[in-house]
Amino acid sequence: MSDHDDLDPLATAHLDTLAIRSGINRTAEGEHSEPIFATSSYVFENAAEAAARFSGESPGNVYSRYTNPTVRAFEQRLAALEGAEACVATASGMAAILSVCMALLKSGDHVICSRDVFGTTINLFGKVLARFGVEVTFVPLLDDSAWRAAVRPNTAMLFLETPSNPLCEVADLAAMSALARESDSLLVVDNSFCTPSLQLPLEMGADIVVYAATKYLDGQGRCMGGAVLGSAIHMNEVLMFLRTCGPTMSPFNAWVFLKGLETLRLRMEAHSRSALELAQWLQQQRGVEKVYYCGLKDHPGFALATQQQKGYGGVLSFLVEGGRDEAWKFIDATKLVSHTANLGDAKTTIVHPATTTHSRLTPEQREEAGIAENLIRLAVGLENVVDLEADMQRGFAQIR
Ligand SMILES: Cc1ncc(COP(=O)(O)O)c(C=O)c1O
Repeated sequence: MSDHDDLDPLATAHLDTLAIRSGINRTAEGEHSEPIFATSSYVFENAAEAAARFSGESPGNVYSRYTNPTVRAFEQRLAALEGAEACVATASGMAAILSVCMALLKSGDHVICSRDVFGTTINLFGKVLARFGVEVTFVPLLDDSAWRAAVRPNTAMLFLETPSNPLCEVADLAAMSALARESDSLLVVDNSFCTPSLQLPLEMGADIVVYAATKYLDGQGRCMGGAVLGSAIHMNEVLMFLRTCGPTMSPFNAWVFLKGLETLRLRMEAHSRSALELAQWLQQQRGVEKVYYCGLKDHPGFALATQQQKGYGGVLSFLVEGGRDEAWKFIDATKLVSHTANLGDAKTTIVHPATTTHSRLTPEQREEAGIAENLIRLAVGLENVVDLEADMQRGFAQIR
């Protein structure tokens, strides 16, 4: 055996190899697929070991609220893909965002949050955390001067998603991380739409990445879950919150996400390819006013997305000619795609943002954010694009 053969084969492995091979801690049974550890607690050898485990002096399992081998395997695998020092898995995407905030913010801190993030994230900052003395300012994702003007001495966190939902606006992650440095705050990026397969925010200077694993990490719309990634120091704080407050990922869900990660690169490439094809096709259809997809050359975020992403993702939206009536008629006429607000699934989904995902905004806020009444969002799945186009034709037939 040469010296070279002694090296860990994963030390130089690529993302798709890491997605399949990292985080494996095979047991004495020699199982090939990762086992599901359906146990709430663990047996200690003796009293001294129990004491050492509880104090944290000795590593190892204690109780599945914060230590479970299947969940750990998922955390290790995702950390390997993200190039993060550590990962903490959570019960849902919202639990991931809450855990970051509870671990790293305190009463009196100020957060600047993109206006163009998931609606429940807006409510978490604006309604829940506000009750605990955390101040928040919402700013348009791409308005650099608004971000700068919002900075205060007590600003502790900048929070954003890129590309945004549903208009695919692309934030400059290097510039945002520079602003985080200047304002002595943490840049937290919700990377649920891109996944580590398409975008690595930590490499571009973000401090923390959060995921709704519920979306593309699962990939087939089966389980709720989330994850937080970043430095070991920050993740220790997040883990302490998880241990104390309990928004824990279940071992079964962790196993589903482990399996999901194995096909992540292939899926993200396919989602991106099909979304681009469908976006280009939609641009040519009579009855379409505008298509929003950052993979289209005429999208304002195209150059930046090309530079900081490995693909453009599966989410696109478009304006049909007319208003709410036409958008609803279009959606109701489709038969193949699923009418549901979820995304990141093998099954393509369609939704009317103004009256569903963004319905809690006031009409003025929706107008400001570009969520028009004639806007339709598609999260393009893995079906054959020709069949998706045929389904869209059913919609067009109702409004032309
Ligand atoms: C970008 C983004 N972040 C976070 C969440 C919340 O994730 P979960 O539904 O798993 O709590 C969602 C859910 O749709 C989302 O789209």
